[in-house]
Amino acid sequence: MPLPFDGAITRFADQKAPHFVRDRLRQTSHSGIASASYPYDSRLKKTVYAVEMHALQLQLARLQADVRSTGKRVVVVFEGRDAAGKGGTIKRLRENLNPRVCRVVALGTPGERERGEWYFQRYIRHLPTQGEIVLYDRSWYNRGVVERVFGFSTDDDRARFFRQVPQFEAMLVDDGIRLIKLWLNVGRAEQCRRFLKRERDPLKQWKLSRIDVEGLALWDAYSAAIEETFARTHTQAAPWTVIRADDKRRARLEAIRAVLLPLDYAGKDLAAIGAPDPAIVGAPDILHR
Ligand code: ADP
Ligand code: MLT
Repeated sequence: MPLPFDGAITRFADQKAPHFVRDRLRQTSHSGIASASYPYDSRLKKTVYAVEMHALQLQLARLQADVRSTGKRVVVVFEGRDAAGKGGTIKRLRENLNPRVCRVVALGTPGERERGEWYFQRYIRHLPTQGEIVLYDRSWYNRGVVERVFGFSTDDDRARFFRQVPQFEAMLVDDGIRLIKLWLNVGRAEQCRRFLKRERDPLKQWKLSRIDVEGLALWDAYSAAIEETFARTHTQAAPWTVIRADDKRRARLEAIRAVLLPLDYAGKDLAAIGAPDPAIVGAPDILHR
C-alpha cells in the first residue's frame, strides 16, 4: 500500500529535517524519548504508570458523581501541536466515565455558515449544561495558532480574537463554569518520530493531514504563534497549564492531575491524586527553563 502523502514524512525525516532532529531520530531507541530537552531519558515505567493511572481513574469517577449531583459545569480545553497526544490523553480521561456526563467536542474545519458567524459561536454551542464535563479536542485557540501559521484568517481577525478571548473566558468563569486549559508540548524530534509511526501504521494513517505534512517545515512559525498565544491568553481567570508531553505516560497522568487538582468534589483525595512533577508541568514559562 502506498504511504499517505507519498511518503512525505519519511522524505522530510531523511532529507529536510534539521540535523539535530535527524541525529535524535537515529539515536533514539524504541522506548527512548526523541526530544533532547526532555528532563527524563526514558518513559515512566509501565507498572508505575498503571498504578498511578488507576488511582486517578478512581478520582475521576468521584468527580463525575459530584458533577452530576451538584450540577457543576466543567470545560477542559486540550491544545498542543499536532501529534502532541491530545487524542490519547482524552481517551484515558474519559474511558471510565459516562459519555452522557463527559463528552468530547472535536470540531472540523469551519463551514461556510460558521465562517459567517461570530468566531466563538460554534464553540459556545457545545458548552456544558449543569452536570456535564466537556472536553474540547482543539478549541477556539485554532485562531491563535494553526490559523496564523496557514493564513486561514486575517490579521484583523487575529487582533479581535486576542482582544476577545480574555473577556470571553472571564465570562464563562464568572458564570460558574470551571475552565481548565491544557497545552501539551512536544519537541520537534519526538513529533517527527510520531508522524513517521503514523505514516507507516495503517491504523494510524488517518491521523495524518495536509496540515501535519506542511507543518513540518513551519516549526518556527508555530513557535512564534504559540508564544504570542500564551502571552495574550494566560490570564488570572483562565491560566494555561503546560505539560511536557514527550513521554505520553507522564503527560497523561499530569493532564488528569491538572483536571482534578483545581476542582472541588466529594471524596477528593490529594494523596491519591499525587503531586504534579514540576519538571513536566507548570505555567507557560516552564518552556523557557
Ligand atoms: P487534527 O490535528 O485536529 O486532526 P489537522 O491537523 O488536519 O487536524 O488540522 C488542524 C486544525 O486546523 C483543525 O482544527 C482544523 O479544523 C483546522 N483547519 C484546517 N483547515 C482549516 C481552514 N481552512 N480554516 C480554518 N481552520 C482549518
Ligand atoms: C494529536 O495530538 O495530534 C492527537 O490528538 C493525536 C494523538 O497523538 O493522540
